[in-house]
Amino acid sequence: MKRGSWNTRFGFYLAAIGSACGLGNLWRFPYVVGENGGGAFVLLYVFFALLVGMPLLIGELILGKSTRRSVLSASIELSAMNQRKYYWIGRLSVLMSLVVLSYYAVISGWVLHFSTQFLSGLFHPEVLVEKGRLDHLLSNGWLQVGLSSVHLLLAIVVVLKGVQEGLERWITAMMPIFAVLLVLLVIKSLSLDAAGEALRFLFYPDFSKLQLSSPLHAIGHVCFTLSVGFGTMVTFGSYLKDSDHIPTAGFRVTVVDTLLSLFAGLLLFPIVLQASNIPLTDPGLLFEALPRFLSQTPGGVLFGFMFFICLYLAALGASIGLLEVIVSNLVDRTKMSRTWAAWICGVAALVIGVVPALSSTFFNGVRFQGKALLEILDGLLINLFLPLIAVGVAWVISSGLSSKEKERLFVQTEKIESVALYPHWKWMLKWGIPFIVGIALILQIIDLI
Ligand code: ALA
Repeated sequence: MKRGSWNTRFGFYLAAIGSACGLGNLWRFPYVVGENGGGAFVLLYVFFALLVGMPLLIGELILGKSTRRSVLSASIELSAMNQRKYYWIGRLSVLMSLVVLSYYAVISGWVLHFSTQFLSGLFHPEVLVEKGRLDHLLSNGWLQVGLSSVHLLLAIVVVLKGVQEGLERWITAMMPIFAVLLVLLVIKSLSLDAAGEALRFLFYPDFSKLQLSSPLHAIGHVCFTLSVGFGTMVTFGSYLKDSDHIPTAGFRVTVVDTLLSLFAGLLLFPIVLQASNIPLTDPGLLFEALPRFLSQTPGGVLFGFMFFICLYLAALGASIGLLEVIVSNLVDRTKMSRTWAAWICGVAALVIGVVPALSSTFFNGVRFQGKALLEILDGLLINLFLPLIAVGVAWVISSGLSSKEKERLFVQTEKIESVALYPHWKWMLKWGIPFIVGIALILQIIDLI
């Protein structure tokens, strides 16, 4: 079967950026920064984005471009060639995408809910007072199941159309809207009185506020937000044309995604600090503080509608990326049609997602250290398993692909900076990343003890 490729280089960037940028930047980043004390963690996050996230992202793109396969098929192929069990990493990556997609769809459903509430609020302001609160949504588990189904259905429809017709065209249309809305919202937010306090919190590094677990949390969040460890970038790399220079692509995606997280902080913290006394560590931070504040601000309902639509588009782009990984792996392995594969994967994510969707109602009694099931799932998967899978992916790339092939794809245009950077990148994948994650894991274990 002929593999699809991006129609334009711009199409690839939009899809990769659209998949990287999402709830990780706008929902997860602010509360993880809140949990880990602010500025020092932000510094750690940027540091690991460049040192761990970017080399991995480039590596995944190279793996996809070299094998022209998705992560599972690529790892099986390399296992046969090298007599090693790389396929375990491929399996874990795809499983990770499926489970993360299932609860990602629940949070995307929350965003969808607030978008529709703000839309109705434009015509009937009393709706926002009654239903535009997170409590209202959390008390209704089946509403969350319904919303995440709608979200997954939308993602399936886009993925069904295939890489050229669906993904590229859809993301090309939505990214510019997303960028314009975000800039407008940040300008509005920085005009608030609490902007100074927010800037200090975000950018003044107080290292005493870091915890022993902070490095692993920063690495996990970097992997999550850059979509590495899931195999997304392997799939996207497999659609790249021969002329595309991968290190440049990896650098640009990392920079845009990291800037977006910082933008998200600039957008949210002035509003949160100004609006309420909600603890900055609350995972519902965004959904608790914003709607309440915006519904009481003149012009805030329109502002809120714009914000949640913007966030929803980002969540949809990232979900499309996660679903695409699972679908492309299934198509590669079974030669099943894309249509069947998209429906099977979407429905599987929906079924698994019923558990996190009911975490605040039916499963409310299941708690660990006061944390609900959805929070436990998010913490375990992203803060622990994802960094470990990312190390596995680094191992597959560094020992599974020959040095000649890696060098060919990394250096490619023989740009002087590619030639100079190649040995450093190779060293980071082989030694640097496993070492950094290992140390972070030891610190996390000490923290637990
Ligand atoms: N990378 C995606 C996000 O940040 C999963 O939301």
